[in-house]
Amino acid sequence: MSVAAVCPGSFDPITMGHLDIVRRAADEFDRLVVAVLDNPRKTASAMFSATERMDLIRETVSDLPGVEVDSFSGLLVDFCRDKGITVVCKGLRAVSDFEYELQMAQMNQRIGSVETLFMSTSPEYSYLSSSLIKEVAKGGGSIAGTVPDNVEKAMRRRLEESAP
Ligand code: PNS
Repeated sequence: MSVAAVCPGSFDPITMGHLDIVRRAADEFDRLVVAVLDNPRKTASAMFSATERMDLIRETVSDLPGVEVDSFSGLLVDFCRDKGITVVCKGLRAVSDFEYELQMAQMNQRIGSVETLFMSTSPEYSYLSSSLIKEVAKGGGSIAGTVPDNVEKAMRRRLEESAP
């Protein structure tokens, strides 16, 4: 039987921490869908559109067999049902992630019979978050090694475009 899972997230943008989880999850599942949340309420504040985020992810996972990139809006459980997926795979960075992740996992189990499997983030990436990396980049700090190279270039370009 082929086992499929989804790695959902905002991915604005994908970080080395996300990529680490996606790569390791891809080893465990026959099919893995990286699902970008397209949240219209956050479009104005996002650095990249959902399409741009998907393109950046596709470039970074092109070497991984069985990995697809998609987007969704609305509830994750509805996306899972439409794709015939019953497993969500997420990374846990620290205890601070746990409470919210547990709440979401329990709710998704309740409303969609979707199981959530947590993977521990590799220690070298445990402090990374998309928002922190954007803050550092906006302030002119180095983000080398925190995001894939194509993402770093896209961030630099985006910040140049938006510079006054
Ligand atoms: O990268 P993020 O922002 O931590 O990802 C959170 C995400 C997208 C996985 C979560 O917000 C989500 O699944 N949103 C979709 C809406 C939904 O299903 N909400 C109910 C969750 S119990």
